[in-house]
Amino acid sequence: MAISVSAPGKLMILGEHAVVYGYPCIVSSVDKYLTVKGGRSFDKNDTFVTGKIRDTSFIKSAIDIIRNKYKLKERIFLETESDLGEYGLGSSAAVTVATVKLLNELFGLSLTNQEAFELSYKAVLQAQKKGSGFDVASCIFGGTIYFDGKSKEVDVFSHDPLPIIVGFSGNKGDTMIMIEKVAELKKKKQKLVEEIFNSIGKLVGQGKRAICKKDWQRLGKLMNDDHQLLIKLGVSNNKLNQLVGEAVRAGAYGAKLSGAGGGDCMIALVSDENRAKVEAAIRNAGGELINVEVGKGTLINY
Ligand code: MEV
Repeated sequence: MAISVSAPGKLMILGEHAVVYGYPCIVSSVDKYLTVKGGRSFDKNDTFVTGKIRDTSFIKSAIDIIRNKYKLKERIFLETESDLGEYGLGSSAAVTVATVKLLNELFGLSLTNQEAFELSYKAVLQAQKKGSGFDVASCIFGGTIYFDGKSKEVDVFSHDPLPIIVGFSGNKGDTMIMIEKVAELKKKKQKLVEEIFNSIGKLVGQGKRAICKKDWQRLGKLMNDDHQLLIKLGVSNNKLNQLVGEAVRAGAYGAKLSGAGGGDCMIALVSDENRAKVEAAIRNAGGELINVEVGKGTLINY
């Protein structure tokens, strides 16, 4: 019997990079999914059909960790399907979480969400060495969460959609390279980078309050400030700055890069009246609009 699990993609709203050093962040799941379908197999080895997901290291590491912990002997077959694309919407975390949840269902492991988080995060770190775990938490808990980079505690504080437009900058960012770049800057300019992280940490707390009150003016201002801090950290690029600038000029409450930077996506917070103008501005500046609802993703087992 085959089971399917779909894990949602994510977008960082505020707090990227500082979260790697223990500060909090706000992340929203999106209504685009990566699905893992699979079952027990009688083959000698596990079999994977992963289509567009070329890197199977996250799947393998999730299977390894669960198999060792629960002393599972049986082999499995597994297929993946993704509508997350190559936009930096969190495919690696999604495929890891979906694999862990699939094994949970197949072998009746009764994992709590917290246990699923811990095992999935361990699997991600085994495959890619660095990362705060915010993306794993977002896949498991859905909605919009406040994630503490130090304790890894999760507060799911909203299930409402956020009025956010997403623009792809045209090239893929490399998260590990960007994390390394910040680490290098921190070695050279420790005080400056710590000040930036502190400022980011503060605006994340204010951002949570703004989202709870649906104070979009305030949230937009915080997004603009966060983008400036990310520029100081050296993780933005000309294209992202151009898309962010055009979105704000066209009337967005605020805009920023989202994620590790160096490429991938930017986000812009908009009113209903300005949505079309901001979309046109992003498109005219060469950005590709990604059609997602932000804050509405949720993990699905079937
Ligand atoms: C990448 O989307 C966000 C980073 O903060 C990395 C992480 O938190 O794992 C740069």
